[in-house]
Amino acid sequence: MTSWASGYMTDIAYTSAFFRELSPSFLRFAALAGAGVAGPDPERKLTYCELGCGQGFSANVVAAANPHIEVHAMDFIPGHIAGARALALEAGLSNVHFYEESFEDFLHRADLPAFDIIVLHGVFSWVSPEHRAQTIEILRGKLATGGLVYVSYNAMPGAGALVPLRRILFDHVERGPGPLLARIERALEFAEGVRQAGAAVFAANPALGAKLDMIKSQSRAYVAHEYLNREWHCLYHSDVVDELAEVKLDYVGSANLAARLDSMKLSPEQMALLSSIEDSRLRETVRDSILNTEFRKDIFMRGVTPLPALMRTDLSLDTRFILAVPRQKVLKGVTTNLGAINFDQRVYEPMADALAQGPCTLRELLRRPQLRGIDANDVRQAAYALLTFGQIEPCLSAARDAQRAKSTKAFNTAVMKRAAYSGDLMGLASPVTGGGVPMDRFSQLLLSAWQRKEPDIAAAVWAVLKPEGVLPSKEGRRLETDAEVLAEFAQQTEQFVLKTIPVLQLLGVA
Ligand SMILES: C[S@@+](CC[C@H](N)C(=O)[O-])C[C@H]1O[C@@H](n2cnc3c(N)ncnc32)[C@H](O)[C@@H]1O
Repeated sequence: MTSWASGYMTDIAYTSAFFRELSPSFLRFAALAGAGVAGPDPERKLTYCELGCGQGFSANVVAAANPHIEVHAMDFIPGHIAGARALALEAGLSNVHFYEESFEDFLHRADLPAFDIIVLHGVFSWVSPEHRAQTIEILRGKLATGGLVYVSYNAMPGAGALVPLRRILFDHVERGPGPLLARIERALEFAEGVRQAGAAVFAANPALGAKLDMIKSQSRAYVAHEYLNREWHCLYHSDVVDELAEVKLDYVGSANLAARLDSMKLSPEQMALLSSIEDSRLRETVRDSILNTEFRKDIFMRGVTPLPALMRTDLSLDTRFILAVPRQKVLKGVTTNLGAINFDQRVYEPMADALAQGPCTLRELLRRPQLRGIDANDVRQAAYALLTFGQIEPCLSAARDAQRAKSTKAFNTAVMKRAAYSGDLMGLASPVTGGGVPMDRFSQLLLSAWQRKEPDIAAAVWAVLKPEGVLPSKEGRRLETDAEVLAEFAQQTEQFVLKTIPVLQLLGVA
């Protein structure tokens, strides 16, 4: 570790994924649905800033999908910023500005605009209290009145259970010799040995074993940044609320809309307990204890103006949504801590059918013959559930679809060109949602070949991957011949064209 990094992991670059909560349209709807407040309007010319942007992939996606928004993003690791700038350049993005700076440097810049939205994803828990205080000072000085802040962090009490395991991993990696990746492998084996030795901490906390298994399966770059920084803090929501209140920020609600679905997760007694608690911070602490929350995604605003109830309903009914998964795969129910919950198919089926045709507001949905007689509240509730479980996404209005499509096309082409060489960039940008679409390398290669109208997509993709000398596997068995690989790829191509391409077309990506 280097001295300028103050214990932050700099030996390996972070992963490049897009997180849906970072898109201005998603944040706007979450604030509206969660708390009935109007956050910054993503249709306007906003200024947006990401603190600790990692590889800058999310910032680049937001810039590509919202060419009318000026995006600023900073991180102190030079490799992260150099890579982010290179991608922006390849994609021809002129509305994104990257800064290779520490929080302290950024705090003292005098040439920044006031930001309408500031996001910190995966930052608060992984930096020292001193550095967290610097980010809060940035919020004090650089957030516009009426501005919105999104902040995610490891939450108490759920993440607290991980402390002993993460400590074993950290100490083992820090003290071991050799290259980082080898040290990570040895630390994971060591932790496994501790479990096998019958350490009581695993018995006292049965979820810990499952956590260890999960960590072992994750990308080592992710493991390094997630668990191996010197600083690793689990925060109580109420402490975060107190810290941010100091810079005039009020808690607005959660970005995962889960609070809107309490009846799916909490027993009537638990709901009654929560509604008997007057203090909102204590209520949230108890809620986190009931649900054993591990990770929080909180939205704050400076200057909250609650909307009248009817206006709030109108605005959410006027939001456009689009299906984000293949129609055939839309969930018919979920399993929560209350057990299996079946969605009411009288509402969910026609909603999914309609949203599979193209973006549609909830108000338009209510006019469909298939939904006639269904209550607007049931449709809104279904939208919250479908959104929470990743089945639909809120969209921007159609007015600037074409302008957005131009810049997402250039961006997605640049990302898919990279897919010929590596699987680092894990998504594309959607002009319809103004956010990202998660997509692995293989799917990017399929999409790229499909767009080029390759007569044999499977062969075109294998021609890219074969020189790397790694034979793909199927159900744990390595495929051995070209013919086997091509047969497998052909099957996957068929499913991709049948199920995934229609969704990508809806999202304006294919
Ligand atoms: C876990 S990563 C999250 C990256 C990104 N927000 C994302 O979600 O993909 C945290 C990032 O914060 C950056 N960081 C940590 N301390 C910092 C500091 N003092 N100044 C600037 N960046 C910092 C790290 O370099 C790292 O890229």
